[in-house]
Amino acid sequence: MKTLKTSTNKQALVTGASGLIGTELCRRYIAAGFKVYGLDKTAGKLKDPNYKFLKCDLGKASSIQKALSKLRSIDVVINNAADTDLTFKSFSSLTLKNWQRGLAVNLTSHFIIAKLTYAWLKKAKGSMVNIASTRALMSEPDTLIYSASKGGIVALTHSLAITWGPDVRVNCISPGWIAGPEEKLKPEDHAQHPAGRVGKASDIAEQAFFLTSEHAGFITGQNIIVDGGMTRKMIYI
Ligand SMILES: NC(=O)c1ccc[n+]([C@@H]2O[C@H](COP(=O)([O-])OP(=O)(O)OC[C@H]3O[C@@H](n4cnc5c(N)ncnc54)[C@H](O)[C@@H]3O)[C@@H](O)[C@H]2O)c1
Repeated sequence: MKTLKTSTNKQALVTGASGLIGTELCRRYIAAGFKVYGLDKTAGKLKDPNYKFLKCDLGKASSIQKALSKLRSIDVVINNAADTDLTFKSFSSLTLKNWQRGLAVNLTSHFIIAKLTYAWLKKAKGSMVNIASTRALMSEPDTLIYSASKGGIVALTHSLAITWGPDVRVNCISPGWIAGPEEKLKPEDHAQHPAGRVGKASDIAEQAFFLTSEHAGFITGQNIIVDGGMTRKMIYI
């Protein structure tokens, strides 16, 4: 796809900004001239005059409120953070506390950020993208909390889109396997994908950038699957 570059004085908010996909999201918006606010529990590697890191525990409403109190307007919100520590925990070891924490970080934070940024997004005729997962649609064993939270994001996305339209468009992206440069991948990891390769963080950043641009003005409430075709592949072994 042709790179869409614009010069702008717009502002973007990205959660999970220090992680693999979050860092690439921040870079994409900075490259397009945005001032980017990155929320995360830990600071990442990104250093740029147009990047402002805001330390925040997305599992706590008060921490999100404190971080967002530094902002006065926003054009784009990307809810990208997720607590992946609970992803592969055996059903028998899972506690109610794990469930509540997992949903607080992965899903409730989206609701809180929606409440806190709506007036700004409406004023800017802005756009929100939520990062879900193909695990909202299919599962491996022991992914209960993660999968449930991602399914919630898909539903929250269309509900927000219908509630906020026509002022603010809201979409979500469901990534498949997205690997960082340090991940050791085998030829068969790539070959199993109909697209012939494992995904890169830029695959998600480019899709998010498109969805929040005016080029996607007729797209809202959707769950865009970016997984190299894996959820379309029938497997019988
Ligand atoms: N990488 C993949 O293969 C893949 C696949 C499907 C979906 N996703 C989704 O994409 C998004 C980004 O994933 P990633 O691969 O970059 O993961 P990552 O672990 O590299 O990044 C997640 C970031 O969220 C932050 N975070 C976690 N809990 C937090 C909290 N309580 N408060 C503040 N920040 C917190 C982490 O510090 C980290 O920087 C996630 O929503 C993930 O579920 C990723």
